[in-house]
Amino acid sequence: MCGIVGAVAERNITAVLVEGLKRLEYRGYDSAGVALLNDQGQLERRRRVGKVSELQAALNAEPLAGRLGIAHTRWATHGAPSERNAHPHFSGREPGSELAVVHNGIIENHDALREQLKGLGYAFSSDTDTEVIVHLLDHKLKTQPDLTAALKEAVKELHGAYGLAVISAKQPDRLLAARSGSPLVIGLGLGENFLASDQLALRQVTDRFMYLEEGDIAEICRESVQIWDVSGEPVQRESVQYHEGAEAADKGEFRHFMLKEIFEQPKVVQRTLEGRLGSDHVLVQAFGPQAAELFAKVKNVQIVACGTSYHAGMVARYWLEGLAGIPCQIEVASEFRYRKVVVQPDTLFVSISQSGETADTLAALRNAKALSPEQGGYLASLSICNVGISSLVRESDLCLLTQAGPEIGVASTKAFTTQLVGLMLLTLSLGQVRGTLDKRLEAELVDELRRLPTRLDEALAMDTVVEKVSELFAEKHHALFLGRGEQYPVAMEGALKLKEISYIHAEAYPAGELKHGPLALVDSDMPVVTVAPNNELLEKLKSNLQEVRARGGELIVFADQQAGMSNGEGTHVVNMPHIHDALAPILYTIPLQLLSYYVAVLKGTDVDQPRNLAKSVTVE
Ligand code: F6R
Repeated sequence: MCGIVGAVAERNITAVLVEGLKRLEYRGYDSAGVALLNDQGQLERRRRVGKVSELQAALNAEPLAGRLGIAHTRWATHGAPSERNAHPHFSGREPGSELAVVHNGIIENHDALREQLKGLGYAFSSDTDTEVIVHLLDHKLKTQPDLTAALKEAVKELHGAYGLAVISAKQPDRLLAARSGSPLVIGLGLGENFLASDQLALRQVTDRFMYLEEGDIAEICRESVQIWDVSGEPVQRESVQYHEGAEAADKGEFRHFMLKEIFEQPKVVQRTLEGRLGSDHVLVQAFGPQAAELFAKVKNVQIVACGTSYHAGMVARYWLEGLAGIPCQIEVASEFRYRKVVVQPDTLFVSISQSGETADTLAALRNAKALSPEQGGYLASLSICNVGISSLVRESDLCLLTQAGPEIGVASTKAFTTQLVGLMLLTLSLGQVRGTLDKRLEAELVDELRRLPTRLDEALAMDTVVEKVSELFAEKHHALFLGRGEQYPVAMEGALKLKEISYIHAEAYPAGELKHGPLALVDSDMPVVTVAPNNELLEKLKSNLQEVRARGGELIVFADQQAGMSNGEGTHVVNMPHIHDALAPILYTIPLQLLSYYVAVLKGTDVDQPRNLAKSVTVE
């Protein structure tokens, strides 16, 4: 959610820093700032509440120049969004301040450190946890004048999560970085080097990257990079060249990233399947060399995730139990992590996350791993994740990477459908290895998966029909979403999308629950959205829809073309391409994404960066 950019170069790097911040805007933030060391050897900064464009305007009015600098987008955790709380934070008063720091994460012992530092005479000018870091470092420099050595000492006293970038007026040739619980990447240039919390921020200047690992401290100079690991030993981190997806931070012909990402789904689903399907079966090795041996032992599955990823997990529970015959439990990570759990023997722990850095999901994985076999520990951990270098992937025994590419829109779209594809591959693999899945059904589903990108294209072709339907929501304040079976989590995802980006209050219910309460809400002001594939629950769903019509409720039904449903008074039916029942959750997600998108456009909300939300929730 917060973003970091830093640079050390021969040239003025102000524009590089600001462009980097703009590329991180998608993560969500409330204020932004930049600090540079000017040619007179003084640290100067500009900070603004609001968008990076506000900071840019401040820099246009009062330019800054320098060859060493750091910049930050903040998402408030300690202290309200305000200029005084925006990063970078200084130690000492400007000009004449010696140190500037930007920080992602949370310092849990900041209260104790603040008291200690106040006792040493430090005056605080913000309410942030970050400010303790810069004063602590300043204090360490009094006895340890080497900046890197002082930083190594200071971080030993920090409890919590941090990605840090530090510059000093006394060391104009270096940018320091420290990582613990919050990702950082070094961008390698020619005679200049960079730092960021996400490589996307640096693609404008380089395609070579070096990822810091947990506990690393780095000293980044123009011509060199030196890294020390968690035990203080010098280490080499591999540098990798990034080729693919350099265009991802560009909206192309689309008005919003969200729409671009919705339309990318056939392509990224195809990519997620690539190299993972045999002629009539799933290639179990896609989950790693030891997957087949491990999967053979799995008797239960526990899934943990947040938000949209949680909805993907809910669909997977229907698949794992219904197709592969494996008992499956699912829980939101923020609940799971604080609960004493009873683990069934031979349970596979599965975490699902787009970013792989979601604090609750990571904590749940760490808790699960910490259980000893005597406490009924898990058999192994597996992550389904979109970011290969993420903490979740690194800390799981096995992983399956979705190939959605960078997702910029805060509302998750292509990450969800590729997660579902990954979870279907997991279902088929577990069923195959354990012998609980009929071979013919596996072959049929592998065939259907191959055809899925084409089906998704057909669903996307209904774009203008869905746009027309969206007009029904323009004046509405509430909506109900209904689904049965594995379409219930799809309805939940549809409701989440609508509320996230259009701010319309939306609830999802299993259609059979309607008469147990929510029916009381139904009247002509409450549109009811339903997904209706042609399956054995269709007739039951149709009766539920009658209940809605009888109360004057307006129905919007996304129905299989063979479902025998047609338009009528107060009933708007959008015909969907026919698809195998098992894959219907993936297909029926598309019109719900489009619906929420077009409603948000009609309402004029900030589609890609909805209010109060951040893309990557790296704090609790
Ligand atoms: C909704 C959305 C969030 C995320 C959730 C988990 O559109 O994007 O609900 O799904 O914050 O994030 P990841 O998948 O990165 O763990």
